[in-house]
Amino acid sequence: MTAYLNGEFLPLSEARISPLDRGFLFGDGAYEVIPVYSRHPFRVDEHLRRLQASLDGIRLANPYRGEEWHAIIRRLIADADFADQTVYIQITRGADSKRDQPFPRDVPPTVFLFTSPLVAPSAAQRESGVAAITANDIRWGRCDLKTVALLANVLTRQLAVDAGCTETIMLRNGFLTEGSASNIFCVRDGVILTPPKDHRMLPGITYDIVLELAARHGAAHQVRPVSETEVRTADELWMTSSTKEVLGITQLDGRPIGKGDYLGKPGPVTRQMHAWYAEFRDAVMRKADA
Ligand code: PDD
Repeated sequence: MTAYLNGEFLPLSEARISPLDRGFLFGDGAYEVIPVYSRHPFRVDEHLRRLQASLDGIRLANPYRGEEWHAIIRRLIADADFADQTVYIQITRGADSKRDQPFPRDVPPTVFLFTSPLVAPSAAQRESGVAAITANDIRWGRCDLKTVALLANVLTRQLAVDAGCTETIMLRNGFLTEGSASNIFCVRDGVILTPPKDHRMLPGITYDIVLELAARHGAAHQVRPVSETEVRTADELWMTSSTKEVLGITQLDGRPIGKGDYLGKPGPVTRQMHAWYAEFRDAVMRKADA
């Protein structure tokens, strides 16, 4: 598998960084995850814009201009053996000669990218939805930045895995924030609800697409704080991310979500939103092919 490290394309197995890298020592870096369909990166400009916002937020200069990023990403995608991919980008504040918290002077950042096969939800997961648990959001005050310091997400996600579930929905002071690696939407009385973007959640690229699609198709939606009770008693729940797209959550803390014919199954709004999403994604990809 090909990777990119500090100006060089090389096999992933040969990529090496210093143990003094600040990404390793302090989680001092930012990252992005970009889905690629049939060798076309999806919403790459939006991902690069969010990367810039994360770098600005941690006061790390962007080492490359837009065209340079595009060229690196293009080459990685072209060299891969698989067509549907996930491109990972990470930039850290580099490796100093000592371990010291303040920013080092004159140390170049570490830039690392690699691509791997896209792991999309299975047909069975799409059909039946997935199970989630809830947990307290124990993360820091800048969840809007996509930083590599993910220990709280890792611990929180492991709670889901330990319970045989796919995702953990995080709650802070009685309100929904997001999933450990996704944004969360719920549907109540036909209205799509999701929290507003602020420092408590990552501004998801897929979240934006879902809200655009709701507006375009005239689906009732409200962006406002969503309480824990509203999540627990929702008619429908789904998660969004670049790799999961729109994926129904049909069990929460061991109880089925929904009512009537849709109890414990992805509901009509979830199915419709996933269909709109797939249609939109395919149209963008067809345009890229043309
Ligand atoms: N995670 N919230 C968190 C905490 C996330 O880590 C992610 C994505 C999202 C969804 O963002 P987007 O729609 O832009 O992918 C929300 C990626 C996929 C990851 O870390 O693997």
